[in-house]
Amino acid sequence: MSYTIEDVHNKIKKLLYSLTGITLTENKDIMISNRIDKLRRNCNYYGDIMELLISIEQGKNVTEFINSFTTNKTHFFREDFHFIDLKNRVLPELYKAGQKASIWCSASSTGEEPYSIAMTVLETNEELHYNIQASITATDIDTNVLQYAADGIYRYSKSSKEFPSWIKPQKYFKKRVQENLTGEEILIKVKDELKRMITFHVMNLNDDSYPFSNNQFDVIFCRNVLIYFSVEDQNNILKKIFKHLKIGGTLYIGHSENPQDLIHYVRRVGQNIFVKEKDLI
Ligand SMILES: C[S@@+](CC[C@H](N)C(=O)[O-])C[C@H]1O[C@@H](n2cnc3c(N)ncnc32)[C@H](O)[C@@H]1O
Repeated sequence: MSYTIEDVHNKIKKLLYSLTGITLTENKDIMISNRIDKLRRNCNYYGDIMELLISIEQGKNVTEFINSFTTNKTHFFREDFHFIDLKNRVLPELYKAGQKASIWCSASSTGEEPYSIAMTVLETNEELHYNIQASITATDIDTNVLQYAADGIYRYSKSSKEFPSWIKPQKYFKKRVQENLTGEEILIKVKDELKRMITFHVMNLNDDSYPFSNNQFDVIFCRNVLIYFSVEDQNNILKKIFKHLKIGGTLYIGHSENPQDLIHYVRRVGQNIFVKEKDLI
């Protein structure tokens, strides 16, 4: 088969868009090459790349393809002002209303975000003598990161500033002994108390509809995922997500994301924090 690197990259962009909605912008050639290597490893296939892509187009190795091309960068308490808002505003309001907290983390990656949410709930309960029950639904399109999240084992270095001062990681993680880690890094494993608060599911934000009821969630996190979509698709996804947020519920989005089409239906209460005022017409 005769083709150029550009043909391969174009086929990948088309496939990725149709399977996930992710739009790869220009200047991503090095990234695409690295991901092709990952795809080969994930499929254990070292033959003709175009043949592999055609087989994916025909429905084979689709999961391996998606898992190879998602970007999963995350960390505990990323953009920590969202967790502070959850602790100081949202959870006290729910507690006073005698409600449980139903929370959706819509691009949970390797789990740091939903576990940060769970730690925030437990910490709030302890600090304010509440007993809020929280159920956290964590979804992602990438099955590998979901498995990683469900395992709940992370590298931790005491000098890292990943956890804010109001969280003591030793309360929520067990230390794991690992022979071959160097320096001061250790492995830590999420305690069961935290795990029990979260259910992990595969879900594609690009699907036409989502498997939740209208107005189901008090809180939705949709952070640092829409940046991989075109502006038009970002708006469409946000509108689909918004249906599942209760009126009065809170939407947290990433720093470079913008709820353009929702602007008349929300009240901005903080940095990328929006409270739903009414349903979309
Ligand atoms: C950069 S991570 C962000 C993780 C976390 N929300 C945060 O802010 O740290 C983006 C995640 O979005 C997921 N993702 C990409 N496209 C998706 C889609 N169509 N549906 C669901 N998840 C998707 C990726 O698999 C990845 O784990």
